Order: sequence, then structure tokens, then C-alpha cells
Amino acid sequence: MQISPSILSADFANLESELRRISNADWAHVDVMDGHFVPNLTLGLPVVEALAKVSPIPLDCHLMIDDPDRWAPQYAEAGGASVTFHVEAAGNPRDVARSIRGAGARAGMAVKPGTAFAPYEDLLPELDMVLVMTVEPGFGGQSFMADQMPKVAEVREAVRRHGGEVWVQVDGGVSATTIEQCAEAGADVFVAGSAVYGAQDAAQAVDELRDLARRHAH
Ligand code: DX5
Ligand code: ZN
Repeated sequence: MQISPSILSADFANLESELRRISNADWAHVDVMDGHFVPNLTLGLPVVEALAKVSPIPLDCHLMIDDPDRWAPQYAEAGGASVTFHVEAAGNPRDVARSIRGAGARAGMAVKPGTAFAPYEDLLPELDMVLVMTVEPGFGGQSFMADQMPKVAEVREAVRRHGGEVWVQVDGGVSATTIEQCAEAGADVFVAGSAVYGAQDAAQAVDELRDLARRHAH
């Protein structure tokens, strides 16, 4: 059970100290948005490279960008220990996953709420993680979509059938009130932005979320 706080809800003018606030987390989730794949623009390669140099924990890069075929391996080279691309944006998802692994990072594939997982099940051997979005990607602080839980369970079941170790991540609206149902459905990596950075004590929020997830493990 791993917690990956999203720095999208952190103070962008003080990212180094914001990373220190969550040094007890397993990953730092970095939302890369290009203003095309999603209607929001955040940060790109130079910032990821700078963050990788100072972060006390590994970077979990979530690419909400067009043309991951071109860009994804560069995020691995920039220091992302995990790089997740959106399958909706990929020309050849298999090649994207291979290029991420080839650059030395864990390969993740994300699906938006309206995207089915089943057509991509045969990609599991190329993947280290599947991200099931529990909001429409683009912004922090949105409401959790409980209707995505059957998809989380479906991915977990597919991973079990295929064997191997593929993590199942949820992202969007994850908080102390919604994390239990995610864990019960089979998620094991939990992204939380506003629930962590909105808390007075971010590190304590991380520990609380991890405890809740462990207690409700699939
Ligand atoms: C949304 C991003 C999320 C976002 C989550 O597109 O992918 O990582 O930061 O924020 P919360 O936890 O506030 O929903
Ligand atoms: Zn994200």
C-alpha cells in the first residue's frame, strides 16, 4: 500500500520545501499537463529534472500530454522513477511502455474515466502499473468518481490472471473518506493531492491514508 501525494496541490513557488513535507510518502506524484491533452498547463521536463535532483523520494510522473510516444522516455531520462502515459494519447502504447522501461523507469499506463481497460489487457506484460483515473484528468480538487471502482476491480483481476507484479493506482478525489473503497476494489497505489497538501500536517495525512488503505486491503 503506497501513497503518492500530488504536488499539483502544493505551493509551486516552493516545491523543494513542499517535497520535504511529504518525505514519509512512497512517491511524489508529478502531474505534467500540456494544455492540449487536458485543458490545463503545469510543468515539463526542465522542472521534473530539477525536482529529481532535490526530491527525498522518487518521482511518479503522470503525463497528461499528447504524443507520449515522443516524450515519455525523456521523462524517465529526466529522473522520473515511474512514468505513466495516457493510452488515449499514445500512437503505439506497447512501444511507449517499452521505451519507458528502456530508459530505466517503471512504466505506467493511465485510462480516463470513459476509457475501457479490457482492450489493453494484453499490454500487461509491458507494464509496471495501471492508473485508473477517478476524475477527469486536468485539475485537482474534483469529486471522486465511485463508478470507476468496477474498473479497478477488473484491472486487479486481470493482473491476478496474468501473474507478475503490476501495481494498480487510483488518482482523483482520493481522501480519508474515499480511499477505503479503492483499497477494497484492489488498488495499491493512491494518489492524493488536496487531501494531503490541504491538511495542516501533510506527513500525518500521508500516514493516515496509508493506514486506512492497509486496513481495507483487497
Ligand atoms: C488530476 C491529477 C491528479 C490531481 C489529484 O488530473 O492527475 O493527480 O492532482 O488531485 P486531488 O487528489 O485533489 O483530486
Ligand atoms: Zn495525476
